Amino acid sequence: MSSSKDTEVKLIGVVGAGQMGRGIAQVAAMSDFQVVLFDINKEGLDFGHNFIKKQLARGVEKGKWDNAFADKALANLKATTVMADLKDCDLVVEAATENKKIKFEIFKQLDEVVKPEAILASNTSSISITEIAAATNRVGKVAGMHFMNPVPVMKLVETITGLETDEATINAVEAAAEKMGKTVVRADDVAGFAVNRILMPMINEAFYTLYEGVAEARGIDTAMKLGCNQPMGPFELADFIGLDTCLAIMEVLHEGLGDTKYRPCPLLKKYVTAGRYGRKVGKGVYEY
Ligand code: CAA
Repeated sequence: MSSSKDTEVKLIGVVGAGQMGRGIAQVAAMSDFQVVLFDINKEGLDFGHNFIKKQLARGVEKGKWDNAFADKALANLKATTVMADLKDCDLVVEAATENKKIKFEIFKQLDEVVKPEAILASNTSSISITEIAAATNRVGKVAGMHFMNPVPVMKLVETITGLETDEATINAVEAAAEKMGKTVVRADDVAGFAVNRILMPMINEAFYTLYEGVAEARGIDTAMKLGCNQPMGPFELADFIGLDTCLAIMEVLHEGLGDTKYRPCPLLKKYVTAGRYGRKVGKGVYEY
């Protein structure tokens, strides 16, 4: 019988140096993994790499860890714009844009480049793992590994089994997440999995509440923070996640589950059409 030992993970590749990818790379490097952070865009890669350096230095200033720990984490991390540099990885975590076409293309390329026994995981927040796996010739070695934002702070990793995901694969992914100090919840491959099946309809409903003039944005956020003890109100959280990502996930829920209750709010669509993607562009529901 196979076990997670079959695929013990030592070298982790991360695809995408954006908000999620750089967080995953940082936590992995701090957890004694060797890490290769890949992004096709040099500017984005340098920004992500520098962001990690700053986060590690900030941790020293705050007394969370010492210089030797930060230096070791940095030494564990390599950054590259060459996908072939991921070839020896035991596990590659893809954290690119939440777009089916882009993800399928990346997995097709990873399948060609990365050693055949390696696991390919996606940090997708909603796209079908079974569909992503079908872009490769190693369907048993593809799984979902969904981190939460901000990755260094949030303790959950939602793991997702596609239709063909091997038990050894999901066990190895979960062992790697646990080594990163995360708690794992396993979900089946159904649109939105567990977290976004619940979180995104709440955010979408907040947009409907605003759209229908029930209350002001600040009022809705205050209501949910003070009334329900949420650390961020739904609009603060939506701006933090990215309104484009929220809309993409709602569209996956709507399409995948087919129920009109998942219809994206026209106001959310309007913000995205206007380019108000949230904090990352300085403007979403709020201005930053
Ligand atoms: N990266 C790293 N560390 C960060 C951080 C970041 N982006 N933002 C905050 N932190 C750290 C701070 O350094 C601080 O650490 P210490 O206490 O050790 O000093 C700690 O987090 C608390 O930060 P702050 O005091 O500055 O701010 P806060 O108390 O308001 O907390 C927060 C900030 C942790 C983001 C909090 O507001 C929160 O938990 N918000 C909800 C986040 C959430 O729900 N995330 C899930 C989104 S859904 C998702 O990711 C999945 C998806 O598919 C869409």
